[in-house]
Amino acid sequence: MQFDRRNVISALFCAGVIVSILLLYTAHDKQTGALSGEKLLNVLTFKDMQNSLRELNKVAALAGLGLIAVAFILGPLSRMFPAQFATYLPWRKFVGIAGFAIAALHSVYSLIDFYKLDVDRMLFSNPKLLGFVSAAIAIVIFLAMTLTSNGEAVRRLGYRKWKSLQTFGYVGLFFAIVHFVVLETRQGTGFDVRPYALLFLFIALVALLVRIGIFLVKVPERQSFEEHIGEAEPKIAHPQKR
Ligand code: HEM
Repeated sequence: MQFDRRNVISALFCAGVIVSILLLYTAHDKQTGALSGEKLLNVLTFKDMQNSLRELNKVAALAGLGLIAVAFILGPLSRMFPAQFATYLPWRKFVGIAGFAIAALHSVYSLIDFYKLDVDRMLFSNPKLLGFVSAAIAIVIFLAMTLTSNGEAVRRLGYRKWKSLQTFGYVGLFFAIVHFVVLETRQGTGFDVRPYALLFLFIALVALLVRIGIFLVKVPERQSFEEHIGEAEPKIAHPQKR
């Protein structure tokens, strides 16, 4: 991937998302309900190694979900409101791939730390089997999307097949949401996350709803890979009138 100006902007955006999670999520003290600089510092200075790694794993989980969801949202939004959102389309590929890389890091860490790479813990004695299976399906779908997010894949698969595979990514997003909700729901407390995490759940849900909206308002489809990544003028820029 060429490291041009738009990739720098996209990288800054991704870094901004991660920093915001550190400041508003990691620093959040559940006991007092307030933000604590000391808590954040303890995590960042690895005062308690195990706790810091677990906290940073959560940061990766949220950043991965958020960035992937933003990459998804930019597609339909730029089709529905080209004047407002098409300008952000060139960020999409970088943000999506960065989101996948961070989510993959979270997956690998979790497989090692929580499941000890033990199939029995993952599948047979796992009280949250649905959460695990959903995560596995999601990461496999996101991997397929990432591996095919280039012109070469479009040429090999043909545009129609490639497009169907990319649209299938929303199934991955759905399973990532299921994973999030199942793993963070506990008996007695229910779905219990720090408030800033709710924003990421919200963004992911909006991405799914906006895609459903696209079907309902019959927004014209893109006809080429270049239109998906903002490198071509869309042939039809406005929704069809019914
Ligand atoms: C095989 C792959 C995966 C495994 C084994 C896995 C495992 C886990 C585990 C054990 C937790 C609980 C962490 C904790 O409470 O400290 C968790 C939370 C989470 N995971 Fe995953 N995960 C995987 C893939 C994914 C993917 C692909 C996404 C999204 C793109 C994702 C998003 C999340 C989110 C948002 C949370 C909640 C973070 C929070 O506590 O606020 N995970 N995951």
